[in-house]
Amino acid sequence: MPLVKWKEHNIEGVEVELLLSALKLRYGYDFTGYAKASLRRRLKALNSYFGVKHLSELLSVMLYDEAVAQTLINCISVPTSEFFRDAQVWKKVRDDVLPQLDSFPWINIWQVGCGRGEETYTLAILLHESGLLKKSRIFTSDINPAFLQDARNGCWPRRNLDDWRKHYHESGGTGDFDSYFVERGEDEIAIKEPFKQSIEFIQHNLVEDDVFKEVQFVVCRNVLIYFGESLQDKVLMLLTRSLERGGYLLLGRAEKIFDLRNKHPYLEELDETLYRKLISGGLHV
Ligand SMILES: C[S@@+](CC[C@H](N)C(=O)[O-])C[C@H]1O[C@@H](n2cnc3c(N)ncnc32)[C@H](O)[C@@H]1O
Repeated sequence: MPLVKWKEHNIEGVEVELLLSALKLRYGYDFTGYAKASLRRRLKALNSYFGVKHLSELLSVMLYDEAVAQTLINCISVPTSEFFRDAQVWKKVRDDVLPQLDSFPWINIWQVGCGRGEETYTLAILLHESGLLKKSRIFTSDINPAFLQDARNGCWPRRNLDDWRKHYHESGGTGDFDSYFVERGEDEIAIKEPFKQSIEFIQHNLVEDDVFKEVQFVVCRNVLIYFGESLQDKVLMLLTRSLERGGYLLLGRAEKIFDLRNKHPYLEELDETLYRKLISGGLHV
């Protein structure tokens, strides 16, 4: 009979918390507000990658080995993306949002969580096809400098091209999608240089950093989904503050703003993924 009646905690949960604390204290990356269930699933996959039985075995290693810490950060920050991902959403951007944005003398867009750049150049292609690229600036940001560098390089495996071309046409694209790329070696394609000229690549952490620009369009898809509820609310405030009145906010298909009226009264819901900052009324943010 033990002297102390232990209060049991889920041991994997404890391991995840320890790793998150260490990442925050040692490397300054704060993932503590991220949704725990999916974090745990992704981190557990590292057991076999590193050949360890328990996640906590990585703790002492990552404190001293930055490469291991970087692998953890990459695993948490998931850069999965595609050109014209969710084609119907891009059709709506093409048909409805961009014509509205054309009424502004210039167009500043903040594309948040760029991963390896597929979504950034999707936007650049759409702006080009709508004749708006020259008066537009895309500020693309990500927490992870390694992904930003990949996005800047703008190269991807050639095997993706068939799927991406299909999405492009489903989004209403009528051009020659392949003509936006050049061949890079046998297996890669690279976006043509002129598409990079309207883009600024910025390291920005939604959890800790502030607004850096007032923009007319915020594209933040498949990022909030990784956050816990209170972090989602905090980040939504940040995104809204960076929007000019009348500007648009595009979220991912699995990202719903709950209790919009009370928590984010300055946003109007246009459909399941698209919001607009009120031109008048609502709280001043
Ligand atoms: C799944 S990808 C989304 C890519 C693209 N937006 C899309 O929907 O196809 C999520 C991206 O969010 C970034 N991210 C995660 N946490 C972040 C944070 N706190 N601040 C900025 N970016 C973050 C990740 O590094 C990753 O590149």
